[in-house]
Amino acid sequence: MLFIHGFPLNRRMWSPQIEQLSSAAHVLAPDLRGHGETLPTPAPYSMDMLADDCAAFLEAIGVTQPVVVCGLSMGGYITLAFYRRHRPRVAGLILAATRAGADTPEGKANRDKAAGQVRELGIRTVVDSMLPKMMAPNTYASNPELVARVEEIMAGTSQEGMVAALLGMKERSDSTALLEQIDVPTLIVHGLDDQLIPVKEAESMHTAIKNSQLHLLQAAGHLLNLEQPGRFNQVVGDFLESF
Ligand code: MLT
Repeated sequence: MLFIHGFPLNRRMWSPQIEQLSSAAHVLAPDLRGHGETLPTPAPYSMDMLADDCAAFLEAIGVTQPVVVCGLSMGGYITLAFYRRHRPRVAGLILAATRAGADTPEGKANRDKAAGQVRELGIRTVVDSMLPKMMAPNTYASNPELVARVEEIMAGTSQEGMVAALLGMKERSDSTALLEQIDVPTLIVHGLDDQLIPVKEAESMHTAIKNSQLHLLQAAGHLLNLEQPGRFNQVVGDFLESF
């Protein structure tokens, strides 16, 4: 299984999955360029480029058989790009807290604004504004340890990497037309309290992708795999049994 992290995060966001799913699958969770311990390169990082990085990573470590790719949020945008560009490498898809569409004009303007602020003021501006929205309001209020862990993971993103990912997400293409071509087993998981990507995005992907399953998790926001690790791992574990 290949886990692709979201923005502005790194592979450590998958620690409950690495720990608990390693008995069911060979789990791989790289840091994308400019995130975690992977060095930054100049902006932008298109979703296609990050998908190609993931394919090169599999190549480099000698994985030749198709994998189940699980991407959360920006990781989901990359997962769809990976499917489009590296179809033979894909056995199945898990789309978590993500959407198929491109950014709206307003969304694009917000990416530019955020990238400008990060260039000028540093990464804290994005960390501070995004952190409360990364989790369900109830998780944010009641689980200070998780909030601190997420903050630390976000703060591990390089300034250059943050700008480059924002600009790459801004330019991403619309993957909606791709959905009906997906012919591998697909699991869609979304938190009912996601404040960043509405549940209806998950529902429309489920409608468009034949052979897909949809699971909506209660008491979970955007980072549902960290907020409800037991439920998330159970749903993913059940899905893996079909391979
Ligand atoms: C993410 O969690 O990866 C981001 O919120 C995605 C986005 O900003 O579109």
